[in-house]
Amino acid sequence: MSEAVKPVVVPEPWTPDSWRAKPVCQVPEYPDPDRLAAVEAGLAHFPPLVFAGEARRLRDSLAQVVEGKAFLLQGGDCAESFAEFHPNNIRDTFRVLLQMAVVLTFGAAVPVVKVGRMAGQFAKPRSSDTETQDGVTLPSYRGDMVNGMEFTAEARVPDPQRLIACYNQSAATLNLLRAFAQGGYADLHQVHMWNLSFVSDSPQGNRYRDLADRLAEALDFMAACGISSVNTPQIRETDFFTAHEALLLPYEQAMTRVDSTTGDWYDTSAHFLWIGERTRQPDGGHVEYLRGVENPIGVKLGPDTDAQQMMRLIDRLNPLNVPGRLTLIVRMGPDKIRDRLPSLIRTVEREGRRVVWVSDPMHANTVSTSSGYKTRHFDRILDEVTTFFQIHREEGTYAGGVHFEMTGQDVTECVGGAQAITESALGIRYNTHCDPRLNASQALELAFLLAEMLKERRSRDRARRRSVAAS
Ligand code: PEP
Ligand code: CO
Repeated sequence: MSEAVKPVVVPEPWTPDSWRAKPVCQVPEYPDPDRLAAVEAGLAHFPPLVFAGEARRLRDSLAQVVEGKAFLLQGGDCAESFAEFHPNNIRDTFRVLLQMAVVLTFGAAVPVVKVGRMAGQFAKPRSSDTETQDGVTLPSYRGDMVNGMEFTAEARVPDPQRLIACYNQSAATLNLLRAFAQGGYADLHQVHMWNLSFVSDSPQGNRYRDLADRLAEALDFMAACGISSVNTPQIRETDFFTAHEALLLPYEQAMTRVDSTTGDWYDTSAHFLWIGERTRQPDGGHVEYLRGVENPIGVKLGPDTDAQQMMRLIDRLNPLNVPGRLTLIVRMGPDKIRDRLPSLIRTVEREGRRVVWVSDPMHANTVSTSSGYKTRHFDRILDEVTTFFQIHREEGTYAGGVHFEMTGQDVTECVGGAQAITESALGIRYNTHCDPRLNASQALELAFLLAEMLKERRSRDRARRRSVAAS
């Protein structure tokens, strides 16, 4: 009997610059390409910001999410900025993420994988190449990594030197994040301290304090049994990873290095990189670049994604079907997700692909107010995440995580939530450089609501296991 002949798959060659031969969207027009090339050449000799081993650890953690044994929390600024660079801002975003992670861990009773949109999230895709104000048209602002936000012809010229500034700020941010994560600040005994002053008097703050009290009691009990931060690093420190949209490919290419342990290529600008909704053309430059690096990666899926297109992306980005390699970040909006997501999930299941499913309830939920602010409604954000969970429940698949734009600051950018921020209050502290972010109180509120969903899911799973065991 002859054996079935397996087709030999010859991998397409890839190099860090093979994306340059493909169509690339969202490219800034640098007036002096030679200066850009000189900056890229300089960056290529800078030390890596992250290590391949760390990226592999994140991939392994995400593989646990695929298995339903962990939950992913991704969050941070829409766009980091040079103006808001301050240790307190980094600390405050970090501590809200820690708070959210504690709340979610209580709900889900599984490890929460923490990934910040931090230390590199400086480039923004734009829906239009130009912006017009009072009859004057200038190039759009594309993030501090590219040009300045001020509406002047001078500021809007892309400046390659900004790549170096972005690298430096990312390095300093990452340095502080590592210190926070591993130097004692993230010790679970500090849970009470993570409550930010402006949140502590709110219902969220009180709820958080109750939870922190319970955690402190549990830690005392464990210490009495001999398990403490002295002998258990998991209590003393935490893993915290960084992520950004891999949009400005000259920068990502310049940060690409061969890992000496495995000989594989890694993008050392962050642990996790994602491809945005506007740059995910299967034959485009962004997909080409990210298919060749071994980092865990994500791809945003908007409401118009069809199943065939999604499969082409999965084939290109994760041909070996490695669990943890690919995260699908769904951002469809509460009105469309019910209609569009189920068929994508069924396709992935039918094809046996191992992916992490994440909900980004922010990016299809941006609206403009009559006074000209871009905002997002808390209830619609909640609605989209809730529907995402419901759909996965119906399909028997695992809703693996959430992706938020949020900050530790007391901003007024999204309306609603327990603070009941109104449209007329948006102007009070509207500081974002791009999209409106949840403030710390709204982010924590959302974490509590999510934790309830996770807890219900856990009870259902337990009941199902019991009934299977009994039958
Ligand atoms: C973002 O995450 O900031 C973003 C621009 O998202 P999307 O590509 O989904 O629009
Ligand atoms: Co955004």
